[in-house]
Amino acid sequence: MVPRAPDPPLSDGVVILRPPDERDLPAIDIGIHDPDVVRWFGAPDMTATDVLALNRRRWAEGSPTFAICERDDVCVGHVWINLARDDSTIGSVGYFLLPDARGRGLATRAVRLIADWAFRELGLVRLRLSTEPTNEPSQRVAERAGFRTVGVVAGRHPIDGASTEQVLFELTPGA
Ligand SMILES: CC(C)(COP(=O)(O)OP(=O)(O)OC[C@H]1O[C@@H](n2cnc3c(N)ncnc32)[C@H](O)[C@@H]1OP(=O)(O)O)[C@@H](O)C(=O)NCCC(=O)NCCS
Repeated sequence: MVPRAPDPPLSDGVVILRPPDERDLPAIDIGIHDPDVVRWFGAPDMTATDVLALNRRRWAEGSPTFAICERDDVCVGHVWINLARDDSTIGSVGYFLLPDARGRGLATRAVRLIADWAFRELGLVRLRLSTEPTNEPSQRVAERAGFRTVGVVAGRHPIDGASTEQVLFELTPGA
């Protein structure tokens, strides 16, 4: 199923989530080169234009990405859901904020918004969120957004695919 873009965009009055578009290319460029994003997701092997095109293709395949904006509608980060390959009722959430947008609760709000929408509109029954054990800011986002800690599980490092440990969190509808 191709998710329909929410109209009006998702908002809690502080954060707005809308599909990314060309006006966001400067923010995407800053985001993919930001040292913290590179640390957790790896050095970019594509341009901001490629990332936008990739996210549009991913949306068409059922895995949506939103630009995180404040009320001025300027993109300050991304939040996304990847559907599980073998079960389209389970998704994983990911996110980044540009450095200037951190420390204000915007990522937590964005995760809550995308989670509520995914449970309501995409029929998901479980959302997962996994972080490196040393990525404490991301773990705090998971906890503040209401995810419960499942535990430390074996996983693959997003950069080199090496075996690594990940802290796994989960959220179910109504939690
Ligand atoms: C992970 C990341 C998005 C977290 O950003 P963040 O700004 O710390 O998260 P939030 O937007 O939820 O803001 C929370 C912070 O704002 C503070 N804050 C201020 N006002 C707030 C409010 N009204 N509501 C909630 N938090 C508020 C919180 O106290 C918290 O700071 P603390 O963790 O020092 O206590 C950011 O560090 C990032 O982009 N990192 C690189 C990419 C990455 O790691 N992605 C995740 C990979 S798994």
